[in-house]
Amino acid sequence: MIPAYANFGGKIHGGILLSLMDKVAYAAASKHAGAYCVTVSVDGVNFLQPVEVGELVSLLASVNYVGRTSLLVGIKVIAEDVRTGSVKHTNTSYFTMVAKNDEGRPTPVPGLLLETPEDTRRFMEAIKRREVKEQYRLEFDNARTRLDAEQNLHLLDKERCRLGYVPTPG
Ligand SMILES: CC(C)(COP(=O)(O)OP(=O)(O)OC[C@H]1O[C@@H](n2cnc3c(N)ncnc32)[C@H](O)[C@@H]1OP(=O)(O)O)[C@@H](O)C(=O)NCCC(=O)NCCS
Repeated sequence: MIPAYANFGGKIHGGILLSLMDKVAYAAASKHAGAYCVTVSVDGVNFLQPVEVGELVSLLASVNYVGRTSLLVGIKVIAEDVRTGSVKHTNTSYFTMVAKNDEGRPTPVPGLLLETPEDTRRFMEAIKRREVKEQYRLEFDNARTRLDAEQNLHLLDKERCRLGYVPTPG
């Protein structure tokens, strides 16, 4: 990680890592699909520890799951201090990619050969991840539709904010 990748605090900018992860996800997905792939969504981006200038970053990727035209690529990011050899895990994120044909439309991808029990575990975990994500999406959409901000101002009582306008009486 070179100094040009650092943020104002001197640590590596999260966007640099995200950009590297996106490229690696593309490489893994397009190699499996044998087609051009695009990023559709990214889950689990939590930077657990900062990456320092000078550290050697490695990205480990695997195609964990395939649907009809989509692929889920898991990416683990590790950063090594080359002087001490100490390695830290900075994050693991999941990129959903979709294969596209020459007309730019989603195109089917080959099935996945699960070569080890670990592959099988990852595939099953991806199915669960998909189900939980869909459930969350439905529940959140439902809660958001029912949430009337003006009627629920008491929800802000313990929050660290204040209104900079006069609310309309309900
Ligand atoms: C992703 C995209 C191809 C979906 O197009 P669509 O016409 O809705 O296609 P489909 O409904 O057939 O979905 C295609 C696949 O994407 C998956 N998908 C669509 N939206 C998704 C989302 N938000 N999260 C996860 N998967 C998603 C579908 O489940 C489907 O997977 P499957 O074939 O394995 O079952 C389209 O929205 C797109 O091109 N987006 C722009 C992507 C891009 O350019 N990314 C670069 C960064 S800007």
